[in-house]
Amino acid sequence: MTAARPQLTIEGLIAELLALGRISESEPPVVTRVVFGEADMRARAYVKSLCHAAGLKIREDAIGNTFARWEGSDPALAPIGTGSHIDAIPNAGLYDGCVGVLGGLEAIRVLQKLGFKPRRSIELVIFTAEEPTRFGIGCLGSRMMAGVLTPQQALALRDKEGRGVEEWRSQAGFAGSLDSVAEPRGRFHQFVELHIEQGPYLEQEGIDVGLVTHIAAPASQRIVIEGEGGHAGGKLMPGRKDALAAAAELILALESAASSTGAIDTVGTVGICDVFPGAVNSVPSRVVITTDVRDIDRARRDGVLAALAAATEEVSTRRGVAITTELINSDPPTTCDPATLAALEASAIAAGKTHKKMVARAYHDSSFVSCIAPVAMLFIPCRGGVSHRPDEYSSPEWIGGGVHVLSRTLAELAS
Ligand code: GLV
Ligand code: MN
Ligand code: MN
Repeated sequence: MTAARPQLTIEGLIAELLALGRISESEPPVVTRVVFGEADMRARAYVKSLCHAAGLKIREDAIGNTFARWEGSDPALAPIGTGSHIDAIPNAGLYDGCVGVLGGLEAIRVLQKLGFKPRRSIELVIFTAEEPTRFGIGCLGSRMMAGVLTPQQALALRDKEGRGVEEWRSQAGFAGSLDSVAEPRGRFHQFVELHIEQGPYLEQEGIDVGLVTHIAAPASQRIVIEGEGGHAGGKLMPGRKDALAAAAELILALESAASSTGAIDTVGTVGICDVFPGAVNSVPSRVVITTDVRDIDRARRDGVLAALAAATEEVSTRRGVAITTELINSDPPTTCDPATLAALEASAIAAGKTHKKMVARAYHDSSFVSCIAPVAMLFIPCRGGVSHRPDEYSSPEWIGGGVHVLSRTLAELAS
């Protein structure tokens, strides 16, 4: 790449991030954009209009993964990919995913302004539903692209109201056989995802960018506890089969199992607890909880799941409640590609940015892209490590640093 310094228009990029953030199902600055909902569709249209203005050629697949391509001088070569997601969980912030999409676009525009001519095409990808909010499983688009989730499995997914992927995607205007979503190995020559760290270390250590070597292995389950309901006054304590009390024991069992592995990398969360019938004067008869367990070490993570399974059996017997566990996903950890990491590192040095190698504890579309292409991730700091909250924040300087390193890396890889 030319030694000329990329001309970042960081104010423009920040204005675009803010504009994207205002497209929300919640009152801004709170961001909620659930896949295929009205806000998600408007956000997609906004980002596509920016890609169009940058002269990129846009294609959408049958599940809505969107590819914006800057054609290289040798279109037959596998492209370099970059990108992330723009869907957002309820009560989220501006930067998760969006920095990778709009920052990826800005990296391309910087190279265009410099007069750079890529040999390999560069494709910006906006993945459908990285967040599990609607269908209960994360990385729907990249999972299907990698062939890890089959069309049959995707079609069996349901939202809370029982509406499926087919109904939602056709309402959103996506058609065609879902078989066509899976891409072959080699689809991208290399893939780089820019993302906020979603943890505190870069900011605490005053480091500009993180080079992600591994992405943690997530597993998620839906646990249904069925007890016996009744009148909160009339049903006396002896012999109660309170489904919520049983769920409480499981939640604490998970917390204890995840806290006692001896590794800081193990995390366990119950983020959903639906109580039926949900009345103050009614003993809960049915509870559904979801578990989310992650670790860099798959065996250690599976040890937590085994401990929870043992607790489930014990609680079920002791309390006389029926408990069924459904595994939603159990994904392996991802190892990032050394050559792509080396390119990121060289770019960070050339850009004068401090860097460190680190692991990603959230899951990312790159995990699934790694099944079909070499991947690496580039992290930038976010204030206080805060993410999945409206006060999520990454400064223009941090974002600019990430885009600078990304643009140099894309130029290097596409040359
Ligand atoms: C994605 O946001 C995750 O849950 O890691
Ligand atoms: Mn997220
Ligand atoms: Mn994300």
